[in-house]
Amino acid sequence: MTAREYHDRTTHSPASVRTSGHTLEWDIKPFPFKVYTDLPAIPLPRELDPLGIDTLAALAAPASAAASLGLSQLAAVLYYAAGVTKKKTYPGGGEVLFRAAASTGALYQTEVYVAVGEVAGLEPGLYHFCPGDFALRGLRKRDVRAALAAAAADESLARRPATIVLTAIYWRNTWKYQARAYRHLFWDSGTMLANVLAIGDGLGLAPRVLTGFVDVEINGLLGLDPAREVALELVALGPEAAAAPAGGSLDSIDHATLPLSSSEVDYPLVREMHAASSLATTAAVAAWREGAWRDTTPPPRANLIALPPPRERAGRGLGETIQRRGSTREFGHAPLTAEELSTTLWAASRSIDADAPGGLVDLYLIVNAIEDVPSGAYFYRPDAHALETLATGEFRNRSAYLCLEQPLGGDAAAVIYWLARLDALTRAFGERGYRLANLEAGLAGGRAYLSAYAQGFGASGLTFYDGHVVEFFSPHAAGKHAIFVTALGRSGVGGRANIQSTLIASRRPSA
Ligand SMILES: Cc1cc2nc3c(=O)[nH]c(=O)nc-3n(C[C@H](O)[C@H](O)[C@H](O)COP(=O)(O)O)c2cc1C
Repeated sequence: MTAREYHDRTTHSPASVRTSGHTLEWDIKPFPFKVYTDLPAIPLPRELDPLGIDTLAALAAPASAAASLGLSQLAAVLYYAAGVTKKKTYPGGGEVLFRAAASTGALYQTEVYVAVGEVAGLEPGLYHFCPGDFALRGLRKRDVRAALAAAAADESLARRPATIVLTAIYWRNTWKYQARAYRHLFWDSGTMLANVLAIGDGLGLAPRVLTGFVDVEINGLLGLDPAREVALELVALGPEAAAAPAGGSLDSIDHATLPLSSSEVDYPLVREMHAASSLATTAAVAAWREGAWRDTTPPPRANLIALPPPRERAGRGLGETIQRRGSTREFGHAPLTAEELSTTLWAASRSIDADAPGGLVDLYLIVNAIEDVPSGAYFYRPDAHALETLATGEFRNRSAYLCLEQPLGGDAAAVIYWLARLDALTRAFGERGYRLANLEAGLAGGRAYLSAYAQGFGASGLTFYDGHVVEFFSPHAAGKHAIFVTALGRSGVGGRANIQSTLIASRRPSA
C-alpha cells in the first residue's frame, strides 16, 4: 500500500458518492468516550484559567516562558483542546456532546494521553484523559518519559515536564466514513493540535510537536491494540529540567475498557495505510527527520493582490473563542473584510515548532464575498502575504459543487482549499509524508477556526470531490492532490453580533 494508492482509492467523486451504498447503522454507532472500567478516576480541577490572552496574540507569538507546569495548567490544556464545551439535544432524543475542537461528523475519534514527569499536583506516570467526566486515569504509575524519549528518538522529551500523546480510534470514524477515515484522523487531530499549540503558547509552555517516532513502541507504551487505535502525534509541554532517569523496560499493559459498540467493522485499507507509513526503529526515525523538502512553487504569473497586514488583536480571549467555537451550519452572503481574511490566512499558515518542516500544503481560495478582493479563484503566497489571481468570476455554485454539493461551500464568503504535491512529499518523507500533509492542513484549518471565531465570524471544515477540486484550480494545480477544505463567512441568520446563539439555534447534524 502506498499513500498514492490509498488516496486514489478513497477519493470522492459524484459517482463514488452515489454508488457507495453505505448506510449508517445506528445500533452500532460507537460510544464517543474511551472508558477504562477498572481504573479509578482522578478528577481534574474544574476552576479553569479563563485564558484571557487575546486569541490573535496567542496565535501570533508565544507568551513568555513559564517557570514550571502545574496541574491547573495541564487541566486548561486538556479542557480547551479536547473538553466537552456544549451539549445539544436533537428532536427524537439524540444528544451530542460537542468538544473544544472541530471533528468530522462529531465522532471524536481523537483520544488524549499524558506522560507526566514533573507536574506539581500530579504523581509521575502515564494517564488517559476522559473528557466525559473530565478526569485522568493512571495507566502506568511511574515516570515513562525516558522510554517515550527513546521511542521518539528525541532526548528532550525526558527533560520536559509532560508530553501529550494524541491517538485515534479507527472505528469511531470508519463507522460513518469507512476507509476515507484515515485522512480524517489527521484533519481532526490537526484541529485539536491547533488548540493545544495556541493554549500552550498562550501559557508559555513552549509546545513542540513530534510526528516521527517508532510507532510500535509508542503504541505499546500506551497499551493500545494497534489494530484499533494508534498514536498519531506527540506534543512536549513545559520548561526543560533535569532528565528523567532511564527506568528500565516497561511491562505490557492491557487495562479493560468499555466496548465502543456491540460489533465493529474492520477497514483493512486504514490499517494498511498506517502500517505503510510507520517507522520501525529509532535509526529510521532519525533518518526520516532528515527528509529534504524543497518548495518548487513557480514565480507568480499574474500581478499579486497585496493583503492588508493581519490584525494583531481581536479583543476576544482565547478561552472565550474556544468556548464559542462551533462549525457554522449556514452562511449568509454578507462579505468579510480583506483584513479579516488576511488575518485568517496568515494565522492558518504560520509555522510551528515541530520535527518536520511546514509549508507542505498549498493554499488555494475561492473568493465569493471579500471587500476589495474581486470574486474569483486565487493562490495564496505566504512569503508575500498576497493573492495570485488564477481566474476572476462568480464561483459560488462551483464551490458548493466542489464541496461535495454542500451549500456551505457556496454560501461562504471565502473557501480555502489545501492541495499538496503528494508524489514529491512521499519522495521526501516516504509514505509518512501523507500523514504530514493531512495533519498540516487540519492544523491550518483548526487555526482558521480560531482566527474566525476570535474575529466574530464563522468557519466550517468541509469535505470535497477530490479530482474536481484539482481540475478547477488547474493548470496552476496540475499534478497536485486535494487535501482539505475550510469555509469562512458570516453566519446566515444573525451575523456578527449574535454569533453563538445563532450557531446553537441553527445547528443540525452534519452532512
Ligand atoms: C476535518 C473536518 C471536516 C468537516 N467536514 C464537514 C462537512 O463536509 N460538512 C459539514 O457540514 N461539516 C463538516 N465539518 C464540521 C463537523 O461536522 C463539526 O466539526 C462537528 O459536527 C462538530 O461540531 P462543532 O465543530 O460545531 O463543534 C467538518 C469538520 C472538520 C474538523
